[in-house]
Amino acid sequence: MTSLTIRRPDDWHLHLRDGAMLAGVLPYTSRHFARAIIMPNLVPPVVTTADATAYRARIMAALPEAHTFEPLMTLYLTEGTSPDDVEEGAKSGLITAVKLYPAGATTNSHSGVRNFENAMPVLERMAKIGLPLCIHGEVTTPDVDIFDREAVFIATVLEPLKKRLPELKVTMEHITTEDGVDYVNQSDNIAGTITTHHLIINRNNILVGGIRPHYYCLPVAKREKHRLALRKAATSGNKKFFLGTDSAPHVDPLKECACGCAGCFTAINTLSCLAHVFEEDNALGQLEAFASLNGPAWYGLQPNVEKITLVKRDAPIEFPDQIETGDGPVTVFDPIFKSHWEVGG
Ligand code: NCD
Ligand code: ZN
Repeated sequence: MTSLTIRRPDDWHLHLRDGAMLAGVLPYTSRHFARAIIMPNLVPPVVTTADATAYRARIMAALPEAHTFEPLMTLYLTEGTSPDDVEEGAKSGLITAVKLYPAGATTNSHSGVRNFENAMPVLERMAKIGLPLCIHGEVTTPDVDIFDREAVFIATVLEPLKKRLPELKVTMEHITTEDGVDYVNQSDNIAGTITTHHLIINRNNILVGGIRPHYYCLPVAKREKHRLALRKAATSGNKKFFLGTDSAPHVDPLKECACGCAGCFTAINTLSCLAHVFEEDNALGQLEAFASLNGPAWYGLQPNVEKITLVKRDAPIEFPDQIETGDGPVTVFDPIFKSHWEVGG
C-alpha cells in the first residue's frame, strides 16, 4: 500500500500550554487533527468552567486562520471542585471531560487529588450526567516503584472506584502496561488511550548508552513486553483503545538538566510515526479505527467527515530536530526509525 485515506483524526489527550508555547505548538496539531482533548494542567490549573472558557478563547485566538480545529475542554479535578460548576460546564457543551491527577503524579499536578473521598461528590455527579473522567493512572506513594505505579493504581484506586461507581465512564489515559491493556479489556465502562511514543520506545531507550531526557515522559515507558501489549491493543481495531498523543512540550533547557521535566513532543510527527508502526504490524487497515473512529464513539461524538491522505514516499520524511517557539526550542520526538509516510501528500 502506498497511500491511505482515512477520516481526519482527533487527539484524545493533548498538552497545548499557554502564551508563546501555545502559539508555537498548536499549528502542528491543528494542521492534522480536527479536535483534541485539551489537558488542564496549566499553572495555575484550569479548575472552573470560567477558567476553561477563558483558556478556550486563548486557544482559538492562537489558531492559524486557515485551520479548523475544535478544542475539547477539560477541568482539572481538585478536592474543592464544585459539582454544580462541572454540571453547568458539561450542559453548556464546553466541558467534554474532567481530569483526575493524583497529587504529585506528573507535571503541574500538585493541586491534584490526595484524598479521593473528597472528590466523591463530583464523581457521583459526573456518573449521573454521563460526563467521562480522564484518569492519570499512577499512584504516587514513595514506597511504590515508579515502574509499578500503573499496576498498583489499577488494583488500589481504579478497581475500588469502579466498584463504587460502576456507571462512571472512565478513560484510562496513556496506558503503558500489559496490566492496563488487560484491565481495560476486561472491565465495563472504561476505555484506554495510547500515545504514539509508548508504541515505539521502551525503558531501554531512556537509559541505555546514556540518559536520554527527550524519551522521559510520565507514565514512564516500561519494559518491552508492555510495549508489545500496547502495540497489539492499538492495532487490533478494538473500540476500547484509541489515540491520545500526550504530546507534552517543554523547552529544551527544562528537559536537559539535572531534574528534567517529563513529556515528549510528538504533535509534529505523530501521524507519520503511527503509519509506520501500523504498517510494520500489518495493520494499516486499523489506523482509522485507532486515530479517527474509536475516540469519537467513546465520547458520543460523530467521527469527522473530512478525510486526510497519508502517502508513502520513496524518501524518508524529514522532521526538524527542534521547533522554535516564542519560549525557546522544543525537541521533536525521535522515533529512531525513519518514516516514509507523509500526511496530505
Ligand atoms: C505531561 C506534561 O508535561 O504536562 N507530561 C508527560 O510526561 N506526559 C503531563 C502528563 O500527562 O503526565
Ligand atoms: Zn498528558
